[in-house]
Amino acid sequence: MSLRCRSGAAAATAAAAVRAGSTWARVEMGPPDAILGITEAFRRDADPRKMNLGVGAYRTDEGKPYVLGAVRKAEEALLARRLDKEYLPITGLPAFTKAAAELAYGADSPALGRLAVTQSISGTGALRIGGAFLARFHGAAPQCQPPTVYLPTPTWGNHAAVFRDSGLRVGSYRYYDPATGGLNLGAMLEDIRALPPASIVLLHACAHNPTGVDPTPAQWAEIQAAMQERQHLAFFDMAYQGFATGDADRDAAALRAFVAAGRAPVVLAQSFAKNMGLYGERVGTFSVVAADAAERDRLLSQLKILVRPMYSNPPLHGARIAAEVLTSAPLRAEWLGEVRAMADRIIAMRTALRARLEGLGSARSWAHITDQIGMFCYTGLTPAQVDRLAADFHIYLTRDGRVSMAGISSSNVAYLAESIHAVTKD
Ligand SMILES: Cc1ncc(COP(=O)(O)O)c(C=O)c1O
Repeated sequence: MSLRCRSGAAAATAAAAVRAGSTWARVEMGPPDAILGITEAFRRDADPRKMNLGVGAYRTDEGKPYVLGAVRKAEEALLARRLDKEYLPITGLPAFTKAAAELAYGADSPALGRLAVTQSISGTGALRIGGAFLARFHGAAPQCQPPTVYLPTPTWGNHAAVFRDSGLRVGSYRYYDPATGGLNLGAMLEDIRALPPASIVLLHACAHNPTGVDPTPAQWAEIQAAMQERQHLAFFDMAYQGFATGDADRDAAALRAFVAAGRAPVVLAQSFAKNMGLYGERVGTFSVVAADAAERDRLLSQLKILVRPMYSNPPLHGARIAAEVLTSAPLRAEWLGEVRAMADRIIAMRTALRARLEGLGSARSWAHITDQIGMFCYTGLTPAQVDRLAADFHIYLTRDGRVSMAGISSSNVAYLAESIHAVTKD
């Protein structure tokens, strides 16, 4: 219930609470965050075999957080320059937003000259700016209702909350097929074609979270055609560029194909949390592909009007790091190598986990472990099986059966396979 629309009785309770000494007495306890709850349970567990497969952050094969070499070197170069700490412009560090847009859209993209781009508080902030921008400017919704953004089922746990809080309504389209552990392309296309014309459709650009299921290039072409037929707006969420295949250009292919087709609107939320390991630095962008430079300028003016009352201007340090990595040729080459190494380690863990499960004689098919891509594997484990993994084997993951592949290493993959086999064999 909205706190602002409380009934007379609730208002009286609130007034009584104030008289009793606490303004906040009527504030109820909220549910814990699903992922953070897992981390807490993991921390409390004293068993040496424990594994945290909940958090979507990369870990080395030794299970340690990883600061990329290119990032460390960029930080050292920045420190040596003794830069000031003045405010950034509202739309962020120009050297960063330019290089970030080139990375996403391609350095030779014709869209760059008409791109309205603003720095954001990582991918979440980009989605939030995008949601607010669309709530304010997207088309005429029926009965003056806010527009609806359609999300894949399932999707990243925060999408619906981000978009609702930015003033949009939230709908869904079918995406994942639990029967195959793959994409339900037929259902997805059917749903996309059935949406009202010019709807907003959120698409994971690559490494779909939580399923790890991405369309093939041929499937993307069909999705693009359906989107274009209905004049839907494609809201790309690209939180894992480079992380899926190890190749940043290949991972941006769907976004670039939509832009090249040029017939239906495209906006993008981009994050450097995962691919540059800049999680806590909060580095990202939101961009809109405009029709021409004049339209870009109008859109940019409105993005500034949106951002200014939200947080005035974005943080400086992470954007400087990303700009340095992206624009220095040696650092960029080192970074791209590191992205590939992270992706390759995850792919190797997929192969190892599947092989171990098959080696244990599991009667199930585990092909989806290697068919899926990116940070996560949607194992197909039931909530009861996930609970058993935690209670009996000290292995923690979200109850939808999503495993963060980065939490697996060559020293614990065998234990994980044995534990999964134990909870799935009967
Ligand atoms: C699909 C997706 N979008 C966006 C984000 C946002 O991440 P951040 O705000 O850390 O960039 C995430 C993070 O897990 C994600 O998985």
